[in-house]
Amino acid sequence: MSTSEIGLIGLGTMGAMLSLNIADNGFDIAVYNRTASKTDDFMAQAGPLASRLTPTKTLEELVAAIAKPRAIILMVPAGEAVDQQIAALRPLLDEDDLIIDAGNANFHDTNRRAAEARAAGVPYLGIGVSGGEEGARFGPSIMGGGDKAQWDRVAHILEAISAKYETTPCATWMGESGAGHFVKTVHNGIEYADMQLIAEAYGVLRDGMGLDANACGDVFAQWNQGPLQSYLTEISAKVSQATDSKTGKPVLDIILDRAGQKGTGRWTVIESQQVGAPVPVIEAAVAARNMSAALDTRKAGEDLFGAAPQPLAEGELTIADLEAALIAGKIMCYAQGFDLLNAAGGIYGWTLPMPEIAKVWREGCIIRSSMLNDMSDAMSEDPTRNLMFAPYFTELMRQSQTALRKTVGVAVAHGLPVPAMSAALGYFDTMRTARSTANMIQAQRDFFGAHSFERFDAEGAHHGPWGSHAE
Ligand code: 6PG
Repeated sequence: MSTSEIGLIGLGTMGAMLSLNIADNGFDIAVYNRTASKTDDFMAQAGPLASRLTPTKTLEELVAAIAKPRAIILMVPAGEAVDQQIAALRPLLDEDDLIIDAGNANFHDTNRRAAEARAAGVPYLGIGVSGGEEGARFGPSIMGGGDKAQWDRVAHILEAISAKYETTPCATWMGESGAGHFVKTVHNGIEYADMQLIAEAYGVLRDGMGLDANACGDVFAQWNQGPLQSYLTEISAKVSQATDSKTGKPVLDIILDRAGQKGTGRWTVIESQQVGAPVPVIEAAVAARNMSAALDTRKAGEDLFGAAPQPLAEGELTIADLEAALIAGKIMCYAQGFDLLNAAGGIYGWTLPMPEIAKVWREGCIIRSSMLNDMSDAMSEDPTRNLMFAPYFTELMRQSQTALRKTVGVAVAHGLPVPAMSAALGYFDTMRTARSTANMIQAQRDFFGAHSFERFDAEGAHHGPWGSHAE
């Protein structure tokens, strides 16, 4: 019976949760997983929602269970699996059946798949879904990309299942082809940076101020009542205060200090370099994850040079300083992310809806925070202006930059690694220095490569009094 309004392939954690969310919002959905036993397990745990779910054991069965014109969500691992799934599914579909890739695809892949679909005259959407397991089940933030008409076809479902900021759905069409996955990629880059900034603050609390995990949790919980209110601050408090049932120790103290990554942060950095929109705080965060992986090398370094972190003197840095430093670091990281979105939008031919991006991140996603509402206001005033020049954030930076400088200074003096905070400060100082030192770079380039330079006092390209092009 072709009665389901939508189908979903891939019942991993995210796919399973998204299916339950769709069913919970009153839509009948047909589901399929390559390993059939997973479908059985999923159905066994669906409870009362099972009546809205149609389990299928083959792709043919799945296709037959969905009302025409069909819409099928793919929730399979990003990369080749998506291409394989499309290749297996497309021959079974009609021309107007829509495939929606809801995984964490590289937006270049989505651009390619969208172009292939366009050439074949079949519809395709790539949507970024953020919010982890809980978001997928109870309301993620959804960043759509592809043909607007196709988005409109399924928008009622995607908006219904998305998180709501007050009553506004956090589901928005961002632009053609890979625009949605690009916005999700930058979201993840910001996610990496926000997490790293918090981890650095934790390092200052733990190694500089000697706070135990519980006390660190108290600090994060307190910060979560102020301008730093966010999902990541909230969960940092929670993870700091969790106890390991096996040892009775704080969970944080038994977790190996080696962080993994699936690559979306790295993609953000690569793209920033491609389009010339620097994101140094995100770069520092990605680099920090990579350095964290070098556990043995770091141990050898400590044996050779001695442990880096030295405790701070009483009152040398306050919790309030650290909070303000984190506020400043966070503003810099978002300023960079939004700048990258603007720059890449221009290059890829998307008119990315900047205020809408900030709005769609206000609820449901991992980087949701109270600051994003102020960011959406700033973007509405002027979508292309760097966030640090928006009056609200200019004022916040004025208030917090001294604390960022103090925190970085004290941390550096005591061997506490704060690469993302340092990058935020370096970016801030660079972006408010009218007379930079790039005149030296230009002189060097001209000296060894006759690349020429511009002058303050004359138009055109000039050479220095050196080499064969000397003026
Ligand atoms: C989200 C998350 C989610 C996931 C990423 C990042 O928005 O829900 O970003 O997509 O956590 O895969 O994971 P890595 O840290 O492994 O890159």
